[in-house]
Amino acid sequence: MIHYIFAFFIGFIFFDYLKKEIVNYQCKKLKGPSILPIIGNLYTIKDDTHKVLLKYHETYGPVYRVWMGDYFTIVINDLDLIKKVFVENYYNFLNHSDIPSIENISHNFNGLPFNLDKNEWKRRRIIIAGALSKIKLKNVYSAMTNINSQFLKTIKEFSDTKEPFEPHYYSDKLIVDINFKLFFNIDGGYDTTLDTFKKLADSFNNLVLELGTAKLSDYCFILQPFLRKYYHWFNKDRDYIDSFLKREFDLHFESFKPEYIENPRDLMDTMIGKIGENLDRPSLKKEVVEMLFNIFIGAIDTSAGIINWSFIYLANYQEIQEEVYLELKKIACDRPIELADRISTPFLNAFIKEVERIRPVIPLSVPRIGSEDIVIDGIKFPKNCQVIPNLYGIAFSEKYWDNPNEFNPSRFFTKSASSVNYSIFSYGPRACVGQRFAHDMLYLNIGNIIKSFKFSSFDGKPVDDTGVLGLSLKPKHCKLSVQERND
Ligand code: HEM
Repeated sequence: MIHYIFAFFIGFIFFDYLKKEIVNYQCKKLKGPSILPIIGNLYTIKDDTHKVLLKYHETYGPVYRVWMGDYFTIVINDLDLIKKVFVENYYNFLNHSDIPSIENISHNFNGLPFNLDKNEWKRRRIIIAGALSKIKLKNVYSAMTNINSQFLKTIKEFSDTKEPFEPHYYSDKLIVDINFKLFFNIDGGYDTTLDTFKKLADSFNNLVLELGTAKLSDYCFILQPFLRKYYHWFNKDRDYIDSFLKREFDLHFESFKPEYIENPRDLMDTMIGKIGENLDRPSLKKEVVEMLFNIFIGAIDTSAGIINWSFIYLANYQEIQEEVYLELKKIACDRPIELADRISTPFLNAFIKEVERIRPVIPLSVPRIGSEDIVIDGIKFPKNCQVIPNLYGIAFSEKYWDNPNEFNPSRFFTKSASSVNYSIFSYGPRACVGQRFAHDMLYLNIGNIIKSFKFSSFDGKPVDDTGVLGLSLKPKHCKLSVQERND
């Protein structure tokens, strides 16, 4: 018996290796590192995936192939090719990977971000795009100013007491507060002294951690059923967030008034108003919860990351901090920064762009899968190949930027840098639907933070700006000094 098992195992390894090498041969225009059976190149791509994939560009050029387990993957750090794939051929590359970890958080691929049914995706995308329009969100926009001034009061306490300020905690808190208002019209964000919110925050953090942990079993077909079973039995964090969303749905549904169709309190109202006409209550509840689940997770982790990185770069680049501050003081000396100021704040705009470039929070974007064989620029993209637009690679490519390792917002005042179409929100019809809201939120909050306070390293040494990659690329925890601006 043992001999048969052994023979089966060796045969399996052999055929797996052969299968991979045949695909490599069919796509021989693409170079890439040597592979092992079953795991492909996952023996090198474990932690710091963004750095490993960046390093491979040095050896294999701007477009190469790697095997992430059973997923033949094409990594691109060429903007023209990225656009040909994500914009011109978007329909072929519309879907994201179908790995079990995503299946687990997307209600079996039924939300919006990971929906695998292209028609269903389109219907849901139109609903969310409408819900995120500025007109529909006017209540949220006006609340944002209050949330920001509360936040500034919290920072002031650190300035008054001279206690160290830990940016990661407060960046998360700020973004959670805004998103609670946006999604559920809840003021004050989560109050961690309340048991419900403490549990919600714990579930959220566990889920983000789980999703950000690279798993062999996500990428090897033979192991995927085990991971699916694991998620089937152990998903209490997902279920807790689900139950929170369901409770919020019930509260919204029961207090819903016809006037909220035109003037919604929040995103949940907009969805109830928009899809409610066609569905009974249980189906509506299911659809709203499915859609909001992933958006809620994605919106918070990414935006909080950018605020957090901004604190680090302000502290490490005092002259740049001063330059942005003087610009803001000049145009709004006795009032908060508003969205209408954007046109008069080129330094602030360039500062945010440079933070987004040098530390792209989703460094490898969200990989897509090709649904048919296709040849683009002479490169074969076989059916089911995974495509990674390497935003981290582009951020450090000398083809696009002079001295890419240098933090230098002024680069965006040159013609060459300002013409690079670099976007951390991805490209084409499936790019981030929340990017406009995210940009407005970042502008208002970062602008008012810089206008009100000066940040520096707490121990006088440069703050570590290397970051850790989980679900998103985040700075390591650190401590800063804060000084209120009174001049
Ligand atoms: C700085 C903050 C953010 C970043 C960097 C970001 C980035 C991204 C990226 C890279 C994608 C995947 C796009 C693709 O597959 O090509 C995405 C999708 C998405 N994002 Fe964002 N996002 C941010 C904030 C937000 C916010 C605030 C919201 C909503 C309130 C949001 C809602 C969505 C949705 C719904 C999708 C799925 C779109 C679809 O599948 O059609 N995002 N985002």
